[in-house]
Amino acid sequence: MADLTGKIAIVTGGSGGIGLASARALKAGGATVVTNGRHDQRAEEIRQQYGDLYDKVYTADVGVVAEINAFVDQVGKDYGKIDVIFANAGFGEPAPLGHITEDNFDKQFNVNVKGVIFTVQAALPYLSEGASIILNSSIANQLGFANFSVYAATKGAVKTLGKIMAAELVGRGVRVNVVSPGPIETNFFAATGMSEEQQAQAADMIKAQVPMGRFGKADEIAGYVAYLASDASTFMTGTEVEIDGGMATL
Ligand SMILES: NC(=O)c1ccc[n+]([C@@H]2O[C@H](COP(=O)([O-])OP(=O)(O)OC[C@H]3O[C@@H](n4cnc5c(N)ncnc54)[C@H](OP(=O)(O)O)[C@@H]3O)[C@@H](O)[C@H]2O)c1
Repeated sequence: MADLTGKIAIVTGGSGGIGLASARALKAGGATVVTNGRHDQRAEEIRQQYGDLYDKVYTADVGVVAEINAFVDQVGKDYGKIDVIFANAGFGEPAPLGHITEDNFDKQFNVNVKGVIFTVQAALPYLSEGASIILNSSIANQLGFANFSVYAATKGAVKTLGKIMAAELVGRGVRVNVVSPGPIETNFFAATGMSEEQQAQAADMIKAQVPMGRFGKADEIAGYVAYLASDASTFMTGTEVEIDGGMATL
């Protein structure tokens, strides 16, 4: 297990799925973990449900820069440093070409791209030497998933951001790496707005494209996030790790 003793870790989008599993893995390694809910009521729900896991739950919609700044700045003030960021909050809202609206585009780019940039930027004054930043992209950044063009573009942006951030922060001893999960069993597909029938059809289609023939589990991403967060991975920066049952490679 990764040793994260004494580290202060932010996981955005820690209410469920990959964020929640990663928070558990970070905490199991000894880190103090905090997260955010997108509004006060959501933050309170997370506190009620996962109060034993999260040291603090802040309120911030990661699509809104002022809220991100206030959240991350408060974490820095509360703990005096930030050692780990898992910029994980994100979502997809599929729409075929011809049906993409400005709202659909803005919402996905605001949360998935703007949210990542400003979370990291707000943390700069507090990042410790040896800090590790992990961005959550997706294997969608390189596959041709019909109807997911905007989502895939946001995840392509995240992959590129990881490299540039790594280059800019390497001199400070801060590492930045990207995880790109394949299809994972979480609330992601329910949150797309697809009907249950559409979700089931999409799941069958996706499974057929995964050489391992199944969706991954959030824990299968979380272990790697904890590894990247830890001092076991100190020679890794600017990389993308694909955790996808062989989907992109085989
Ligand atoms: N599942 C997959 O197949 C898969 C594959 C590749 C990459 N990913 C990426 O993995 C990340 C986590 O997704 P997941 O699969 O774990 O799905 P999930 O269970 O739906 O988790 C998404 C998390 O992001 C939070 N979130 C969404 N919009 C937010 C906002 N505006 N402000 C604050 N929090 C917000 C959600 O909060 P609420 O609880 O309030 O909704 C939730 O905590 C996403 O970036 C996703 O793109 C997922």
